[in-house]
Amino acid sequence: MDAYGVVGNPINHSKSPKIHHLFAEQLGHQISYSKIESSLEDFTQTIELFFTKGGKGLNITLPFKEAAFKLSDSYGQSAENSQAVNTLSFSEDGRIYGESTDGLGLLKDLENNDIYLEGKEVLLLGSGGAARSVIPSLHQKDIAGLTVCNRTKEKAIKIKEDFIHLREINVLDGLSLKNHYDIVINATSANLSNEAPEINPNVFDGSVCYDMGYTYGDTFFLNWAKKFNPSICLQGWGMLVEQAAESFYIWRGVRPDTEEIILRLQKETEN
Ligand code: ATR
Repeated sequence: MDAYGVVGNPINHSKSPKIHHLFAEQLGHQISYSKIESSLEDFTQTIELFFTKGGKGLNITLPFKEAAFKLSDSYGQSAENSQAVNTLSFSEDGRIYGESTDGLGLLKDLENNDIYLEGKEVLLLGSGGAARSVIPSLHQKDIAGLTVCNRTKEKAIKIKEDFIHLREINVLDGLSLKNHYDIVINATSANLSNEAPEINPNVFDGSVCYDMGYTYGDTFFLNWAKKFNPSICLQGWGMLVEQAAESFYIWRGVRPDTEEIILRLQKETEN
């Protein structure tokens, strides 16, 4: 049986084992998929041990995505653009290949919901790994403009500098944001502390509001944003399943039917 897993810290909350087991069940594949907690010091060793024991592929989550990029021997275009990796695979010749499927996961989920980015003004909230992981994919879609806003402005400016080879990024303070963006994406981790980012709330007026976070029921962010008249609100379940499906495809060459799995997860969240 081919072995896969997800490495992170903390890792207990991860939904990846469930999602990958559902993919395997749907396609009649026999796989194992486990949660692996690692410390920062042991990260490289953890990966090497998994692959030495015959493991086929790993997902990488917080806080190791940059470290996974560094230990990859070769990488895909998205990993190179975002300098982060969430999917590792081990090839026959003992080399580790890394790719980032987060950005593609976001694009697919938006498309599944009939939201198209071409020509749109996009506001991205946050400047950590989650924000970085989706910028190259947003750029690919020929958006009209990208504004990044972060509580700590220096980090947003660093993003602007790091992606300057790809595109122009506007950096604005929360209270200087315009009154409307076509799409507002929350890539902050403010949900974890039940806080809303300090921004002009009129950004949501008539906008598509997408929270990359996910929870049972509405996220704290969506609950708050809903008060300011967005046209549609979505949370990150679909992105989670779509990025997992891309990893599954990299490893096993078959793309699962994600619609069925997203519906199943959403149904569970409603109950
Ligand atoms: P991730 O990898 O999930 O992006 P991260 O690298 O720790 O995690 O980044 C978290 C992001 O959420 C940061 O942009 C952080 O803002 P700071 O750079 O100012 O720390 C943002 N964030 C976290 N809590 C927030 C809050 N309460 N309000 C606004 N932004 C918040």
